[in-house]
Amino acid sequence: MLDWQIDLGATEAIGETPVNRYETPKKQPKPEVNAEAVAPVLAPTADPAAEARTLADAAQDLDGLKAAISGFELCELKKGARSLVFSDGVPGARVMVIGEAPGRDEDREGRPFVGRAGQLLDAMFAEIGHGRAGAEHPIYITNVMPWRPPQNREPTPDEIAMMMPFLERHVALAKPDVLVLMGNVSCMAVLGKKGITRLRGTWVEALGKPVLPMFHPAYLLRSPLAKREAWADLLSLQARLRS
Ligand code: URA
Repeated sequence: MLDWQIDLGATEAIGETPVNRYETPKKQPKPEVNAEAVAPVLAPTADPAAEARTLADAAQDLDGLKAAISGFELCELKKGARSLVFSDGVPGARVMVIGEAPGRDEDREGRPFVGRAGQLLDAMFAEIGHGRAGAEHPIYITNVMPWRPPQNREPTPDEIAMMMPFLERHVALAKPDVLVLMGNVSCMAVLGKKGITRLRGTWVEALGKPVLPMFHPAYLLRSPLAKREAWADLLSLQARLRS
């Protein structure tokens, strides 16, 4: 079975314990239904975004915000993810980079942008003297979604909406001078619009900060010709920070 899965392209085991799919399920006695006991379970849960807002607003610092997100149970992505990927880099840095969501490598390590796209992101910022801890000019990095979506699918509009209060609070607590939005998902979340080819390179205002949309490094890996525009955007960021 395992060889067959590997032939199909499986690269990681999701569960902590093996499942024997040949085992005949034991017949469970039908539970007696107690309507009163079931009713509260079926009652609609609170508005996830409203609950996220309450938790986020109560967070007094970044550690508190991380704890608040880790206690938020209304996002399905949490169930399939290994780690909560909160942030990396230097809190309080002038530049805050917002990506989309963790991929497999980030989910394993619990840090954003550590896979191939992350290596390109590091190389891009290094060109203008910026980087994570230890760089001359530090950056702070997070994602719209703190949990890896299954098969790296795009987060849905509902998932983005329910996690937005946390992202907004994240920006307020990290206090960057500028935000850099990597790709369409973060533009959708922060600016309410997509179309990165049109949006990139033009400074706008959102969440009370100057915001620069850029091509996502994963896109640049697939379309290296677009690195020319990405370079122009990095220079625009550098000029903005110097001015
Ligand atoms: N892509 C993202 O948008 N974020 C990550 O953390 C990794 C890849």
